[in-house]
Amino acid sequence: MSTDSDRDLAELYLARALPRRWRHVQGVARRAEAVAAHLAPADGELLVTAAWLHDIGYAPPLATTGFHPLDGANAVRELGVGERLWGLVAHHSAAIHEAREFGVAEQLDQFRDEQGLGRDLLWYLDMTTSPDGQPVSFGQRMADVRARYGPEHFVGRALGPSMGDRQAAVDRALRWLVDAGHRPDHN
Ligand SMILES: [Fe+2]
Repeated sequence: MSTDSDRDLAELYLARALPRRWRHVQGVARRAEAVAAHLAPADGELLVTAAWLHDIGYAPPLATTGFHPLDGANAVRELGVGERLWGLVAHHSAAIHEAREFGVAEQLDQFRDEQGLGRDLLWYLDMTTSPDGQPVSFGQRMADVRARYGPEHFVGRALGPSMGDRQAAVDRALRWLVDAGHRPDHN
């Protein structure tokens, strides 16, 4: 699977049904392409693929449980692509904390959270790209999530418990990027 076909797949599922989500995904993927230049080719390609597909589980035809990281991971598993990708999609951006609130933690735990650099970079890129696809600070992005979902929604309820994991991933990713000579594109 090439990253072009990943892009086409994401466009097919998201562009018309969820245009704002599609703008976010394009922003994450564009920034992933810049970051991938610092990685070994296979790792860079995996990061870009994961960026294109991380939110595909929001697509109405794929949204079987209503928990997008799980629906997305199940969808990419059906495509038969590599197992690392399933885990990256399943666990992106502290999804396990939201899964506990939503009641699907056991299902999500069927997928492996690889906890490596690629995973941290995906979390970082997702959590520093606005809903419209612009680079923003992690703090701004979290404030937006908090405001958009409110304290009752499972996403809002998971924010507190997930914040340590989120911040740690962003810190590790940023440290690595700075060491690699990559200039952060957000404030
Ligand atoms: Fe997501």
